[in-house]
Amino acid sequence: MQKDVLRIGFLGLGTVGTGAMKILEKNEVEISRKLGVRLEVRRVAVRNLDKLRDTNLAPEIFTDNLDHVVNDPEIDIVVEVMGGVDSARKAIARALENGKFVVTANKDLLAQFGVELLAIAKNQGKNIFYEASVGGGIPLIRPLKHCLVANRIEKVMGIINGTTNYILTKMSCEGREFEEALAEAQAKGFAEADPASDVEGRDASYKLAILASLAFSSKIDLDDIYVEGITGVKLRDICYAQELGYTVKLLAMGEETDGRLKLRVHPTLIPTLHPLAAVANEFNAIFLVGDAVGEVMFYGRGAGSLPTGSAICADIIDAARCIKNEVENGIVEATFGKKAVVPMEEQQSRFYLRLKAKDEPGVFAKLATAFGEAEVSLDMIMQKRSEAGTAEIVLVTHDVSEGDFAKAMRTLQEVPAIYSINSILRVVE
Ligand code: NAP
Ligand code: HSE
Repeated sequence: MQKDVLRIGFLGLGTVGTGAMKILEKNEVEISRKLGVRLEVRRVAVRNLDKLRDTNLAPEIFTDNLDHVVNDPEIDIVVEVMGGVDSARKAIARALENGKFVVTANKDLLAQFGVELLAIAKNQGKNIFYEASVGGGIPLIRPLKHCLVANRIEKVMGIINGTTNYILTKMSCEGREFEEALAEAQAKGFAEADPASDVEGRDASYKLAILASLAFSSKIDLDDIYVEGITGVKLRDICYAQELGYTVKLLAMGEETDGRLKLRVHPTLIPTLHPLAAVANEFNAIFLVGDAVGEVMFYGRGAGSLPTGSAICADIIDAARCIKNEVENGIVEATFGKKAVVPMEEQQSRFYLRLKAKDEPGVFAKLATAFGEAEVSLDMIMQKRSEAGTAEIVLVTHDVSEGDFAKAMRTLQEVPAIYSINSILRVVE
């Protein structure tokens, strides 16, 4: 017999959980009307039962024991928005084994154990919905699984971390310091519990693993992705990049050529007129190229309470539809094999380089020789006014293999007139 109420259990009620809860409360009537079933929040597990909560939930709904949610036979849908890997992995597995559908925003967990958890879901005839795990409120998972499924996706490229985009925007538009901008992103609820995951590029690599897996129909190991964060990006580089006509963004890029994947996350100089250069603050934008549809771009808030809550609620509603219609809604990911990956040293890049050199005749020639010997061709070179006999030189190379560029860097370090290489960033046109 069909139920007229479906019951939800939350694991976590922080930034994302509270956003989702507010949407469920505010749009309760609208959601029931669209769904034809009423949704009821039955239990919420949190860490600290004494914390004041910005919701209308009755106090007896709260528990600090995850089992009270995942083992409750009345609960149909478990929403995991607590983050972390070990407890979340066990709780989701238990919830699926107990016959519940699962909704999660946990990209760390999905990128590492998504295959294992989706296999449990498939065995149980259930599903895991994870729209909120990439791009906050931007629809990405559903478009890849459904609307674009007839395409062979050639390329995925975008800004998929709100915290680092917020920091880079504040540094480049307001000349703010890194630490100050990070503290603001944390206060606004964009950053991870451990913000090192954001600024060191890991969060973006988890999201790229999830996106690339769906885009290229392949299992992705995190080791397949080259990852560099923004901790080495200095205000000085952002200013020089602007002088050269570029904006610095943390880009995630995936590409399939001849059946092999190229996967990388790193700070990148992109032309100031590139559409991604205008993506500011916590906004994300993802650019996809499909062999039939051509170029498609998705843009919106990539982090934050209500935007991410919006994606969570959409997944709750999808899970509720599956329960109502007695379908599992297809786990395509379970059929993926593993495609080969092009090692980073074989990939091509353009490079921006900032270095300090002795201000004496012939230094440019020595630089040109070192690059020439490594077969690296230079596109732009500029020397800033020297201080105390030391010149700051900024240059941009043409496309070069990562391996050849590394060789050129080793040669440069042997040139006595080159004091230090202060910054190396990649450039995408
Ligand atoms: P958060 O604000 O730190 O909230 C975490 C919640 O989980 C809190 O309510 C906390 O309880 C609870 N919790 C943590 N460990 C627990 C445990 N062992 N047992 C019971 N409750 C526990 O985190 P968030 O920003 O909402 O992020 C949640 C998840 O969404 C993470 O996976 C994150 O990566 C992902 N995500 C976040 C965003 C965003 O914009 N913030 C966007 C997309 C995805 P207390 O309240 O008692 O501390
Ligand atoms: N910390 C993440 C970000 C949250 O800044 O993008 C959204 O996944």
